[in-house]
Amino acid sequence: IPQGDDLVKAILDLKKEKNAVILAHYYQPAEIQDIADYLGDSLQLARAAKDTDADMIAFCGVHFMAEAAKILNPTKKVVLPDTQAGCSLADGCSGEGLRAMRENHPNALIATYINCNAETKAESDIIVTSSNAETIIEALPKDRPIIFAPDKNLGKYLAKKTGRDMILWDGSCIVHEAFSMERIAKQLAVNPNAKLIAHPESETPVLDLASFVGSTSALLNFVEKDAAQEFIVATEEGILHEMKKRAPHKKLMPALVFDESCNCSECFYMKRNTLEKLYLCMKYELPEITMDEELRLKALKPIEAMLELST
Ligand code: 13P
Ligand code: SF4
Repeated sequence: IPQGDDLVKAILDLKKEKNAVILAHYYQPAEIQDIADYLGDSLQLARAAKDTDADMIAFCGVHFMAEAAKILNPTKKVVLPDTQAGCSLADGCSGEGLRAMRENHPNALIATYINCNAETKAESDIIVTSSNAETIIEALPKDRPIIFAPDKNLGKYLAKKTGRDMILWDGSCIVHEAFSMERIAKQLAVNPNAKLIAHPESETPVLDLASFVGSTSALLNFVEKDAAQEFIVATEEGILHEMKKRAPHKKLMPALVFDESCNCSECFYMKRNTLEKLYLCMKYELPEITMDEELRLKALKPIEAMLELST
């Protein structure tokens, strides 16, 4: 495997040779973000995957994101640098579990966060991402209760914002639930000019403390445009790479987590991808995301319902 600048060049050569596009999430390692053709949040990346005319999509994110790309653009070859790049939310919610929940609440609509696998999507009425969840929940018929899966923290946040009756799946993100309200409160006290901004996968006490709550792209836009010069950022710390580029003169601090010995808010899954693995997956076109066509069509329906409702 080439190293250093040669590795970057080899990836760019493969991209040309194979007519590939590299999509990356804001939580990816910095060197992957820097080489990507398109950097975005879950919704932006899903749209980019749907619209691309490249022959191969090298998806630098986690498995459910690459799977969504395949669902939306099945004729393209979708490769993921490391298939072990999972997600605690996706891993904790099965299609079977959601089916059982529907049986217990036959009148409910199922709105499911995009952080789930294809089987779970296939059991859902509509998919949401953190960028469009509030708009979509507001748009659902008022006379039906809503089952929301799998993130209970995002679900609680949405129930509070929209006033809707929501039955929540008991799932959470291992990265965002590690933020400590007590440690962040102390961090705010020693940085009195800083604003706390948080991703809605964080727990309620953290969200209650925050000046702004939003998806990764919304957090980036907020830091860029807001008048404040200092921010404490409660989301996966990979986002600070792009944030520093967009707001180079502002002071950006990762929010502190429960473990006193570590201030780290890294998503272990997102960080499984490396430049070396990206090179190998493009070279050998493996591991490839494949899917049964019947399942793909079932999972596509609620994603299309989402895209129709989000601007
Ligand atoms: P975004 O859609 O806000 O980018 O969030 C994705 C995610 O996995 C957050 O943990
Ligand atoms: Fe999943 Fe959390 Fe990692 Fe996002 S940060 S991919 S929700 S485990």
